Amino acid sequence: MSNDYFQGLNYSLANEDTWIEYKLAPENADSIFAVCGSGSRVIPLLARNPKELHIVDLSEAQLKLFRLRHESIKKLSYREYLFFLGYLKEENQLNRRELFKRLTLSSEDITYWDHFKSLWEAQGFIYLGKWENHFMMLGRIYQRLTCSQLFSLFDTKDYSHQKSLLNHFWITPLFQLYTKIVMNEWVANRLLYKGSFAGSKDKKTMKITAAEYVSGEFDDLFKTTWVKSNYFLQLIFLNSVMFKEAFPAECDEGLFYKVKNSSTQIHFHQKNLLELLKERPHDFYSLSDTFSYMKDEDVAEFLEALPKDIKKSSLMVIRTFMRKPSFKISSPWETKTELNERYAKEDCTRMYEFSVLKKA
Ligand SMILES: C[S@@+](CC[C@H](N)C(=O)[O-])C[C@H]1O[C@@H](n2cnc3c(N)ncnc32)[C@H](O)[C@@H]1O
Repeated sequence: MSNDYFQGLNYSLANEDTWIEYKLAPENADSIFAVCGSGSRVIPLLARNPKELHIVDLSEAQLKLFRLRHESIKKLSYREYLFFLGYLKEENQLNRRELFKRLTLSSEDITYWDHFKSLWEAQGFIYLGKWENHFMMLGRIYQRLTCSQLFSLFDTKDYSHQKSLLNHFWITPLFQLYTKIVMNEWVANRLLYKGSFAGSKDKKTMKITAAEYVSGEFDDLFKTTWVKSNYFLQLIFLNSVMFKEAFPAECDEGLFYKVKNSSTQIHFHQKNLLELLKERPHDFYSLSDTFSYMKDEDVAEFLEALPKDIKKSSLMVIRTFMRKPSFKISSPWETKTELNERYAKEDCTRMYEFSVLKKA
């Protein structure tokens, strides 16, 4: 199910709030295992300074994007890096083409990025992914159809300021109607996931529809959290991560310098993570939202197939979106429902169920 969709550059910003994994990852581990995605979800793990980092993705383009991010941290200053990726729109007349030339990349990676030159020269790399472009388009449709001036709701000095404007700029029934018509299962399955959407009727394990799920969570985010600090909502509704308060974990200055100084040995794997997991033990596993796209029978016994010498207290973070295939969790692995629910609420995208497994 995953191979059809997971090709090319699907993710460039991150539709996961990686602070969760960063906080859970141990310092100075022997080895961390991480699904690449945009690469933004992996960069903060390097700040934990593992001896080795194993990065896996079915799509070679996603691995290229990690290498680009990592090299730009190594070779550029903090502000150059933010500008290069696209978080800063302008910076002291810097030019992305010139910054790119300072990176050491393979000729294959350089050729790949040259294809998109005009796009990333203008706006950086974080808006290149198919996923980001799909949701930015849905955000533009919302603004046009409803004539909403959502910028004012984002540009507030604090949460109480936002709360005082909420009734003026956010109409829950209107957003519910919009999700039913536009941000629904059919559109996601047809236009983005090409038949692999985990929230579609025949795949999801959640009782509600994708439109109900998204409208409920977004409505709650607008009502109960300060959206100026939410990069995910800004990407969708403003088509840009507009405010520095919203910058995701990879933009944190302290983390930037830790990654710059890290000497982790990085290994890249373009293969199915279920195969790679069997090969050797790791101390922390960041498996992203990959299980949603797998068949029940492929993951049912995956814990049984792991090497037996994984250390005690090692953690594994699994995210799922609308479809959680059933996998057997048996001793020595355990999970705590109340913690999983807490992580799901903490994640500023609110798009995932969490299964954080610990080896007792
Ligand atoms: C659903 S995406 C999540 C991306 C992520 N939310 C982010 O913020 O970058 C999962 C990533 O895992 C990769 N992937 C999916 N199934 C995989 C598998 N079985 N083995 C290895 N990589 C896989 C995809 O190519 C994709 O980059």
